[in-house]
Amino acid sequence: MIKILLAIHLFSFAVAAGGGVANMLAARSARGAAAEAARAIGGVQAKIGRLSFIALLMLWLTGVWMVLQLGGFAAMPALFSTKMVFVLIVTLAALYAQFLGQRAAKSGTPPNGATMARLGMVSGISALCAMVLAVWAFN
Ligand code: HEM
Repeated sequence: MIKILLAIHLFSFAVAAGGGVANMLAARSARGAAAEAARAIGGVQAKIGRLSFIALLMLWLTGVWMVLQLGGFAAMPALFSTKMVFVLIVTLAALYAQFLGQRAAKSGTPPNGATMARLGMVSGISALCAMVLAVWAFN
């Protein structure tokens, strides 16, 4: 069971991280694009953002499930708590980006590009730290 959960966990990480990189590249393309094209790119970015957010929820679901299978939080290696600090930062940044995206969709104006880029950078770097700490913690 743990192997299936870990496989889903790693696949979810691949989807979330890939989405982050794709949205970073899309933001670069949107910067010099005409208004119509920038709007279309923004729509794709919103879809990728939603998929990445679902992948993050899957990381939580499979992660908590694995912790329970492995004997609970107390049985986790020392570095696991440090990993969870970065996981929390990723989650808060992603939640805020989703909130700004939803609010922008309702008002019809795109979210602030600089804020979204900053949130993307914070969550991307934190996800990288969480991934490296997970490898160190469990191997
Ligand atoms: C940004 C979010 C996350 C990332 C990037 C991430 C990344 C990873 C990676 C790369 C591994 C594989 C480590 C290895 O076996 O070498 C792993 C394992 C693990 N993760 Fe996560 N994870 C995230 C969220 C979570 C959450 C929210 C939990 C639990 C609350 C969790 C619990 C675990 C556990 C228990 C394992 C070890 C499974 C095992 O080897 O038996 N993860 N994680």
